[in-house]
Amino acid sequence: MNNVDRTESRRRFLKFLAASPLAAYWLGSGSLEERIVSAFQTPSAATIDEPALHKLITSADQALNVFDLEAVAKQNLPPAHWGYMATGVDDDVTLRANRNAFSKLQIRPRRLIDVTKFDTSTEIFGVKWKSPILIAPVGTQRAFHKDGEVATAKAAASRGHLQILSTVASTSVEDVTAARGGPVWYQLYATPKWDITQALIKRAEAAGCPVLVVTVDLPAGRNVETLNRYRRVDSRTCTDCHQVGPLGRFKRRPMFDGLDPTGLTDYYAPNLTWDSIHRMRDLTKMKIVLKGIVTREDATLCVEKGIDGIIVSNHGGRAEESGRSTMESLPEVVDAVGGKIPVLIDGGFRRGTDIFKALALGAKAVGIGRPYIWGLSAFGQAGVEKVLDILHTEFTLVLRQAGVTALDQIKRSYVTEAWRQ
Ligand SMILES: Cc1cc2nc3c(=O)[nH]c(=O)nc-3n(C[C@H](O)[C@H](O)[C@H](O)COP(=O)(O)O)c2cc1C
Repeated sequence: MNNVDRTESRRRFLKFLAASPLAAYWLGSGSLEERIVSAFQTPSAATIDEPALHKLITSADQALNVFDLEAVAKQNLPPAHWGYMATGVDDDVTLRANRNAFSKLQIRPRRLIDVTKFDTSTEIFGVKWKSPILIAPVGTQRAFHKDGEVATAKAAASRGHLQILSTVASTSVEDVTAARGGPVWYQLYATPKWDITQALIKRAEAAGCPVLVVTVDLPAGRNVETLNRYRRVDSRTCTDCHQVGPLGRFKRRPMFDGLDPTGLTDYYAPNLTWDSIHRMRDLTKMKIVLKGIVTREDATLCVEKGIDGIIVSNHGGRAEESGRSTMESLPEVVDAVGGKIPVLIDGGFRRGTDIFKALALGAKAVGIGRPYIWGLSAFGQAGVEKVLDILHTEFTLVLRQAGVTALDQIKRSYVTEAWRQ
C-alpha cells in the first residue's frame, strides 16, 4: 500500500468510527475525528524506553506483579539488609535453580469446563485456609520495616493466610499472635542446648501455636557470599543495632529473652538427629512438621517416625549449594509419603502459575519467603497484603483457565515437562 492509499484508508476508518453510535460513549463530547487524529500525534509506543515502563511504583496498589515491589524494596533497604534477604550460598546456583525449575514445567489446561464457581481453599490439619499460599518463616523482619512481623501478621490475618513465625523473629510469638488475633505456626531452630530448645518449644505451645515447624536443613552453617559482598559496601556502623560477640546473635531476638545462650555461637544445631525429634515429640502436643526435607529417603523416615507433615524446602537456596530446586525434589517426596501426611513446599514461588505447578505435583500448600519481604520493605503491611493479593489473583486465574474448580482436581496430568509428553 502506498502513502496516498494509507492516508485514504485511515480517513475512511476515522469516518467510520465517527459514525459509530458508541463513539460518544467511548470518547465523550467534541469532534471524534479531531480526537482520533490527535491520538495518532502523540509519541508512538516505539519511543517509550524500558526504564519508563518499569518506573518505581510509589504505592502498593500500583504493583502489577511481585517484582514491582522487589524494585522498591531494593531502593528502600540499606545494602547489608538487602544482601541478607537476597543472598543464596556460594554462587547462588540453588537460589536460581528454584526459579528456573518452573520454566521446565508446562501447564496442560483442559477446556469446556464450567469454571463460574470455584474454590481455592485447602485444609491442613483440620483447619481450612482460603488459599494454598502461606507465609514462610523469615527472621528479623524489623530489618526490613519498622513494623516487622507485626505488619506481616496483620496482613496475613486480613487476607486469611497461614503464617509461620521464625525463631529468630524480631517480635515475640505472643506479640505476633496478638497482632494477628489468632495463632501462628512456630518455626524452630533447635539450638545445641536442649534446655534452650525445650524452653522455646514450651513458650510457643503456651502462646497457642498448633504446629511446630522444625527446620532441619542448617546443621553446619552456610557460605553467604552475596550477603558478605553487600556488607562490605554498607557504610553504616552495623554495631549500632547488631550486638557484637558470640552471644550478640541472641540479643534483640525476643524468643531468647530470659534464656542463657552461654556457650552457643549460633542457632545451628549440628547435633540435631531423629533422637532430638523424638524428644520434641515427647515434650509437646503440637503437630510436628519438618522443614527442609528434599529426598525420598528422609520422607519415608518422616512417615515411619510419625512426623505430621513435611515442607520441601532448601531454605530459599540459603542452606547447602545442592544445585537442585525444590520443585525437582517434590515428586520423590510426594511419592514416598503416599498421601499419608501433607507435603508443603517453598522456594522461588513468584507467580500464580508456579503455585499451580507445585499443586499439580502433589503439594498441599506453597510457602513464599522473599516476595512478602519485598512487599514489607516497600510499603509495610499494605505491601505484604498486595503480594498476597497478586499471587492469589494470579493463582485463581490460572486455576480457572486450566479448567479446575477445586484444588483436589489438580493432578500431575495438568503439567508436563517441557518438550516431553
Ligand atoms: C531473609 C530470609 C530469612 C529467612 N529466615 C528463616 C528462618 O528464620 N527460619 C527458616 O526456617 N527459614 C528461613 N528462611 C527461609 C524461608 O522460610 C523459605 O524457606 C524461603 O525463603 C523460600 O524461598 P523464597 O524466598 O524464594 O520464597 C529465610 C529466608 C529469607 C529470604
